[in-house]
This record gives sequence, C-alpha cells and structure tokens, in this order.
Amino acid sequence: MAKKKVKPAKAKAASKATAKKPAKVAAKKAKGNGKSNNLPRPSNKPWGQAGRALDGVRILDFTHVQSGPTCTQLLAYMGADVIKVERPGVGDITRGQLVDVKGADSLYFTMLNGTKRSITIDSKHPKGMDILNRLIKTCDVLVENFAPGALDRMGLTWEYINKLNPRMIVASVKGFGPGPYEDCKVYENVAQCAGGSASTTGFREGPPLVTGAQIGDSGTGLHLALGIVSALYQRIRTGRGQRVLCAMQDGVLNLCRVKLRDQQRLAHGPLTEYSQYGEGIPFGKAVPRAGNDSGGGQPAWLLKCKGWETDPDAYIYFITQAPVWGEICDLIGEPTWKTDPDYATPKARLPRLRKIFDRIEQWTETKTKFEVMEICNQHDIPVGPILSMKEIAEDESLRATGTVVEVDHPVRGKYLTVGNPIKLSDSPARVERSPLLGEHTDEILTKVLGYKAAEVAEIKNSGAITPPKKEEKAA
Ligand code: COA
Repeated sequence: MAKKKVKPAKAKAASKATAKKPAKVAAKKAKGNGKSNNLPRPSNKPWGQAGRALDGVRILDFTHVQSGPTCTQLLAYMGADVIKVERPGVGDITRGQLVDVKGADSLYFTMLNGTKRSITIDSKHPKGMDILNRLIKTCDVLVENFAPGALDRMGLTWEYINKLNPRMIVASVKGFGPGPYEDCKVYENVAQCAGGSASTTGFREGPPLVTGAQIGDSGTGLHLALGIVSALYQRIRTGRGQRVLCAMQDGVLNLCRVKLRDQQRLAHGPLTEYSQYGEGIPFGKAVPRAGNDSGGGQPAWLLKCKGWETDPDAYIYFITQAPVWGEICDLIGEPTWKTDPDYATPKARLPRLRKIFDRIEQWTETKTKFEVMEICNQHDIPVGPILSMKEIAEDESLRATGTVVEVDHPVRGKYLTVGNPIKLSDSPARVERSPLLGEHTDEILTKVLGYKAAEVAEIKNSGAITPPKKEEKAA
C-alpha cells in the first residue's frame, strides 16, 4: 500500500487537462464519473472479485493472548497480510494454554490467529532487531499489546519507529489510559471490573459478576481495528502514520455507556424500567445490578420454557415491546389487559412487571424455546432463545453465512472458528487456519524482506530466530 504512488508524469498531465478545460471537467464532475476528483473509476469486476478491502496493507503483528490477536485476525479476514512476530521456541503464550489435543496448538491460539503468517524473532538479539527494522520499513501498521513500557524496552519507541517509517501506524492495547493505573498489567476481567461492567452485571442481591463475552479483550481488539482503519484512511490525506491507543477500561466503558446514562438519570429519580422499582426497593447512589432486566426502554425478562427442569438453556428472553402489547395479551390468554387501565399503557405496567412476566412465563413454560420463538415472530414480538454453545456450533445457518467456519490444521485436524462477523458485499472474508510457530520465517525473510539464502543461514546461526540452545537456557 505504501509503495503505490501516482507517477509524476501522469499527475502533471492530469493537472494540465484540468487547467485547460475547467468547464468540461466541472460538467463531468457533475455527472459523477469519479475521474475529476482523482478517485479511481468504479471497478468493472463483478462484486466480490475486486480483491479484499485491506489488500495491500501489511501488518507487523506483535500481539499476544487475546485483545491484540482479535484485532489483527479481523484485519487479516479483511485481506491484510498479517505477519505475527513470536519469540523463538516459545511463541504466543496461548499456544500452550488450555491444551485439549496433546502436541497441538490450543484452540485459544488457533481461534485467534487464523489467516496470519508466523515468523520467530528474538527482538532482544541484535540481528533480530535488524530484521524488525526491515519489517518496520515494509509494513503499514505495527500492532502490539505488551505490558506498558515493553515495546520501549525493546528499543521500539514511537520516535524510533516514526523516524524509520514515517507512514507507519503504531497501534496499542493497554489496560488503562494515562493516569494512576497506566503501568498496570491487565487481563479481561480486570477490565470488566474497572470499566463498569461487573458492578452493573448480576442480580441485585448478589455480588458483581463478570460476563462470558470477552468485552475487555475482544471488545478492545475491535475498537483498535476501527482505530487502525481510520488511521489508514487519514494517512491517504496526510501521508503520515500516527499512534492509536485503546485502553481496555475505555473499551469496556464504551460498551457500558447505557449504564453511565442510568447513573446520570438517577439524579432525577428512580429508574422506573428496573424491576426493583416495581418491587418498591429504593435505589442507592450508584446504578444497581439489574439481573435480566432490559437495558432499554422496553421492559423484558428471561423466562423458563418447556424442559427447563433438566435443560439449563431452556429459556427465552421476552421483550414486552409496547406496540405489540395487544398481541402479547392475546397469546398469553389475558385479552382484558389490553384495555385494563392497570395494564393498558407502558407507564401503568411498570410497577407490575413482576406479575406480568410471571403470567407470560406460565405460557412460555408450556412450549419449547423454539416454539415460543416461532409463535412470537409471527406477531412481531421480539424474543430470543438462549442458545447453548453446542447449539451454536451445530447451527447450519451460521455456517452458511461464514460466521462459524470449519478449518483444517496440520496438527490438530479440523476445528471450528468464528469467521468474520462483519460482512462486506465486495470483500469476501479470508478465513484460514492459524500458522505453526515460525511456519513462515524463511518465506518472510526471503520474499518479503529480501534476505539472500546465505544471509538467512547466517541469521539462523546467530540465534536470532531460533530457540536458545539448552545450555544457553540453563546458563
Ligand atoms: N523477543 C524477545 N522478547 C520478547 C518477544 C520477542 N519476540 N516478545 C515478547 N518479548 C518480551 C517482552 O519484551 C517483555 O519483556 P520485558 O518485560 O523484559 O520488557 C516480555 O516478553 C513479556 O511481555 P509482557 O507483555 O509483559 O507479557 P506478560 O505475560 O508478563 O503480560 C499481559 C501479559 C497481557 C498482562 C500484558 O502484556 C499486558 O498487560 N498487556 C496489555 C493489556 C492487554 O492486552 N491485556 C489483555 C491480554 S488478552
């Protein structure tokens, strides 16, 4: 991407033409032919065959564990060439965490590092640093999520990188932004706690709860990906890179913004859509945990369905959306609630939500969650079955859309991964297996960085890309 420049001769000719025939150009511009504003003409290739959105973007992927790898995997799905740099002999620590198949990279690793290439480099070895310097010069983006200060300690400060490649974007995930905690190491649940999610999740009478959705790690990776793509877009105008920082605390708070909304509403009275209001329990100074209450203006709750006694996932989330209140009343056999002043309006229902959901549950308990889903959808009543991971893994429609993808791995065999959840109509996702540790080291050294065979042999001998020998380890 960095290398594609407009040839000066052509640019000159274009500006000459513009200067000569301004009226004609203006007319063409009005017609929207896409030429007069220096944009490429619309491709004639069929949809989906004009390459991928991020073709030509090369990423130096210095990420590990989950937050950073989520980001670079998404960019790889969009077409970027992601070169994952790993420590020789060790690699990303998740390769060996939660291992299910002996001798194979764990699913923790494989599901977060698909569609990438792996090169091993000891960044603290002088020759390793030489290779990194070449990578910095040839890549568009460096992504990292080391502990605060680790990249600087490698010698890769922003000033150093920017001097070597002024177009490079340096994107980082850290636990906290500048402030009292900026030097702290952070994992998922720390971010959930510090970002306001845990204090607002769970039941009022219980302790704060963390959620299974990895909003601290994967959520921040997503935020970072947007930051990177925005910086790439700005670079088209400015010609220069910039730093992109996503703090996990900030990412979680961004996803919890409705709770900060409620915190401010508390100053003006109770939160009437919380079931605690209907139960007559006073609110404290901070937003309480709301159990399964809906976070929006349409009251909702989780209800038991047929089989709940033995199936832990036989539940449905039921939203009493105001416009379909009449249909709900008919379905559950309470037609008089449509006109009864205690139930007819959303405001009148607020103090009675517990009673209303108990009554709806008497109806849902007679049906499976899928039957409730089918019936309610015929009446435009928004409901959601609780799907287990087993059900999701077996869901054919998710496979058909490429959201769940089966890939083949040379060591572990077939495994499921989550494909690209973001669908682009002209950029089909590239979802491939994860690389073995250092699988592409030779290929990257020779084909991307231009090292000759003799130089590669010399690098190998130096120990910059190979694991330390046993006696060195012991010493
Ligand atoms: N060659 C040589 N050294 C390497 C290397 C390589 N290719 N890759 C990493 N290292 C070194 C680093 O330089 C660092 O060394 P230093 O501390 O001596 O400077 C060391 O490996 C460990 O890196 P660190 O990031 O501190 O790993 P950790 O396992 O101790 O901590 C986290 C892990 C996730 C807690 C920490 O990286 C962190 O807080 N990251 C930011 C927040 C984040 O992303 N958290 C979510 C993770 S899912």
